[in-house]
Amino acid sequence: YKRVTVKTLVDMKANNEKISMLTAYDYTMATIVDGAGVDVILVGDSASNVMAGHETTLPITLDQMIYHASSVIRAVKRALVVVDLPFGTYQSDPKEALRSAIRIMKESGGHAVKLEGGKEVKESIKRIINAGIPVMGHLGLMPQSIYKFGTYTVRAKEEFEAEKLKSDAIMLERAGCFAIVLEKIPATLAKEVAESVSIPVIGIGAGNGVDGQVLVLHDMIGMTHEFNPRFLRRYMNLYDDMTSAISQYVDDVKSVDFPSEKEQY
Ligand code: KIV
Ligand code: NA
Repeated sequence: YKRVTVKTLVDMKANNEKISMLTAYDYTMATIVDGAGVDVILVGDSASNVMAGHETTLPITLDQMIYHASSVIRAVKRALVVVDLPFGTYQSDPKEALRSAIRIMKESGGHAVKLEGGKEVKESIKRIINAGIPVMGHLGLMPQSIYKFGTYTVRAKEEFEAEKLKSDAIMLERAGCFAIVLEKIPATLAKEVAESVSIPVIGIGAGNGVDGQVLVLHDMIGMTHEFNPRFLRRYMNLYDDMTSAISQYVDDVKSVDFPSEKEQY
């Protein structure tokens, strides 16, 4: 396998080749995602919701992110593995941000970190990049700030928010980020941002005018079933398929259909 690097991604944008990105939080899933040819694997703090059942991404800890990331890293042969810096590990000051990023790199073996925010976190981003750690930005809907907004509705519909987002994207490029995630914003705005920077812009609910797409794995394979935003395309309905398989197993155990003659010693 030829490994995907941050340079590969910037070259892909220059060559007009779209970037595919999905989340993974564990070894088995990451083996499948990497083997299927996904370019970037995100160890997202969405693990807080998907893996741990929390209502928001806020509770997940740095130790827990490192556990997930190290499991993913053991599986991956080709993809670039980006790890989310969780809430509370980079906002208070740039030195703390760098310490958190260093822990992720040393203890998980991840290839890059991602953090949410624009000019508020500029100094932290610069400090991390200065230490040689690639940073992916994240603008638009920022789940770690959910209590500031109160809802998960589309962001930057107002002109002043759109203007801030555009200037934040340019700031992120100047600060040295290798890519930016744009979450749940109007497609026209996302396209405009993608055209205004030379680093790749990866969208989730941001239309097709960007340089790549990211989805949460468990949502796109339909393992979750109560989260149904317009931007989500489900490629499987694993919630239903697994439910039937598991209830069939329960029936087979009860009726002593399982194990059969051939399935015993
Ligand atoms: O944590 C996550 O899964 C993310 C993606 C939705 C971009 O940040
Ligand atoms: Na995230």
